Amino acid sequence: SPAPTMPSAPGMPAALERFWTDRVRRIDAELERLLPGSDAEPQRLHAAMRHAVLAGGKRLRPILTMAVHEALGGHHPAVNAVGAAIEMLHTYSLIHDDLPCMDDDDQRRGQPTVHVAFDEATAVLAGDALHVLAFEILADIAPIAVLQEITRAIGTTGMLGGQMADLEAEGTVATEPVVANIHRRKTGALIIASATAGAHLAAVSPDVVQKVADYARPLGLAFQIVDDLLEVTGDAARLGKSTTSDTKHHKVTYPAAIGVGPSWERARALTGEAKVALGQWPAEADSAILSALAEFIVSRDH
Ligand code: IPE
Ligand code: IPE
Ligand code: MG
Ligand code: MG
Repeated sequence: SPAPTMPSAPGMPAALERFWTDRVRRIDAELERLLPGSDAEPQRLHAAMRHAVLAGGKRLRPILTMAVHEALGGHHPAVNAVGAAIEMLHTYSLIHDDLPCMDDDDQRRGQPTVHVAFDEATAVLAGDALHVLAFEILADIAPIAVLQEITRAIGTTGMLGGQMADLEAEGTVATEPVVANIHRRKTGALIIASATAGAHLAAVSPDVVQKVADYARPLGLAFQIVDDLLEVTGDAARLGKSTTSDTKHHKVTYPAAIGVGPSWERARALTGEAKVALGQWPAEADSAILSALAEFIVSRDH
């Protein structure tokens, strides 16, 4: 069964829960609208793309885009489509991350991974196809600044560089600076771009975009630290993915580098940094949802 889309966390504020439920509905409708139907040629490829994207998932990155955009008073008509494109990019990275030549995982979002449900070649192509489709969408509707933020975030200095470093570090002794550097790139960079995309769409000044990045930077690192931690302390059914993958591949992770307790402390401290950064935003920004979202990052169970 699919992993529950709606994230839950003890003490999650009702306002954040309502916001999340409603915006996930919008994003899912947009994804459904933008993804080719599985009855259109090439059917098998389209079916694989839909399998990966529509399997569930928390939709954190588009949620962040929308929350930042709204907090800054934006009303850009393309915000849902930009969020959907970012979710496609994230999903492409997951399909490839799970391949036998990478993390070799057979469960994702509570479903068989694409190479298991289909086959390896189809999984490679489905990832490629989502990558291209995302930019086809963005090219039609997004301001150039959004394209610049996203391409820089997912290239070799960002997500792909982090993925390469993650693989190269397998079996080495984990130290905090090395792990932090991997995490900032493989996961943090796209999370920052998801937030700053929302800011660009709200047409704020470069100075405010920087303040948005200052909020999202600690959040992105905290998010991957908690991903590492949930693999140690979490429940596979709830997570919808394996809890033995990091150990099996001798990954360098936060708990491996500094231990479980200190990793939670570090994640909580980073959440605090994100909230401090929110305090620097323009006075008219409505940051209640973003503050609750930062808290959620460390209290989530999946
Ligand atoms: C998982 O991301 C991979 C990381 C970069 C940590 P998410 O935890 O956001 O996965 P989904 O989208 O909810 O499945
Ligand atoms: C995934 O990191 C990062 C990207 C897909 C870019 P992980 O390999 O640590 O994430 P999970 O645990 O498979 O979700
Ligand atoms: Mg990986
Ligand atoms: Mg992985």
